[in-house]
Amino acid sequence: LMIFLTNLLQLTYIFSLGLAGKMKIVEEPNTFGLNNPFMAQGNRLQPKVSPAPVSGPAHLHHLAGKCFSLIESMYKYEFCPFHNVTQHEQSFRWNAYSGILGIWQEWEMTNNTFTGMWMRDGDTCGTRNRETKVVLVCSNSSKLVQVSEPSTCVYSLTFETPLVCHPHSLLVYPTLNEKLQKEWDEVEQARYDGLITEQGYNNLLKDVFEDAGLLKSNKVMETVAEAETRSEKHNSLQKCEEDYQKQNEEIARLRALLTLNNIPFESQQSTLEKGAATALATDQHLRGDTGLFHQL
Ligand SMILES: *[C@@H]1O[C@H](CO)[C@@H](O)[C@H](O)[C@H]1NC(C)=O
Ligand SMILES: *[C@@H]1O[C@H](CO)[C@@H](O)[C@H](O)[C@H]1NC(C)=O
Ligand SMILES: *[C@@H]1O[C@H](CO)[C@@H](O)[C@H](O)[C@H]1NC(C)=O
Repeated sequence: LMIFLTNLLQLTYIFSLGLAGKMKIVEEPNTFGLNNPFMAQGNRLQPKVSPAPVSGPAHLHHLAGKCFSLIESMYKYEFCPFHNVTQHEQSFRWNAYSGILGIWQEWEMTNNTFTGMWMRDGDTCGTRNRETKVVLVCSNSSKLVQVSEPSTCVYSLTFETPLVCHPHSLLVYPTLNEKLQKEWDEVEQARYDGLITEQGYNNLLKDVFEDAGLLKSNKVMETVAEAETRSEKHNSLQKCEEDYQKQNEEIARLRALLTLNNIPFESQQSTLEKGAATALATDQHLRGDTGLFHQL
């Protein structure tokens, strides 16, 4: 063995001596020898963006920096949590495909639960970029188990891990700091009190998640107070009915005034106005002021 190793070393030495002078290293863009298994991986792919910071449940943070792979048919898929998803054609072809299926960006959340990790801005695919949703499911060991492409250039990966087996392991609320939890509480209260619409609620919650770094931020800032004002202006049915009633009362008052002063006026009434006038007449009647509105 020693002899063999020595020979090998000598051979390597001679080889490098012999070639070093003549060899010229050419830096090439990533088209040549893309998936040559003898080439170091990782130098060949050019990410478009940097990954977002690590976020979400603290017990998942130590997955950062690790990678998990799955070989399916001709491809090896690699998932590096909080970093990227890549795809490598398992082939010795000179131009075997290797690509980025997404770079870590944000969580998907529904109903106070983390439901997926979105890796976006991968390699160009027609007019869009490849992207991948990674779903975390409970199992006794951490491994990538499934890959599919539900729509063109949108991939879905299933990552099994014991880290999500506890029923509370994927809850969103406990991962927030006190300030953001308080903000969330206020948003819930505002919805409960009917002060904001469902859309207003979703927008406010989105802001909380953006502040927490769970969603990629493209801020449309709005405070609870602002949403309440907006909701009040346009969306409160009660407010609308009140305004409608006020206007009808004003119409009735003016009609009464005209009638009292014997000033003729356009008596064509819309059904709505008639209805309102009748309702008002009933009100007035109750207050003992009869007769006036029946003349209208
Ligand atoms: C993917 O993430 C891994 C792990 O953090 C990293 O070593 C590798 O360079 C990344 N690859 C690309 C193409 O970004
Ligand atoms: C939301 O989560 C709660 C508790 O985690 C569950 O009881 C409820 O059914 C869920 N609602 C929806 C719409 O998924
Ligand atoms: C997972 O855990 C179950 C129950 O403890 C055990 O029966 C099974 O063999 C384990 N599977 C693996 C792959 O370790």
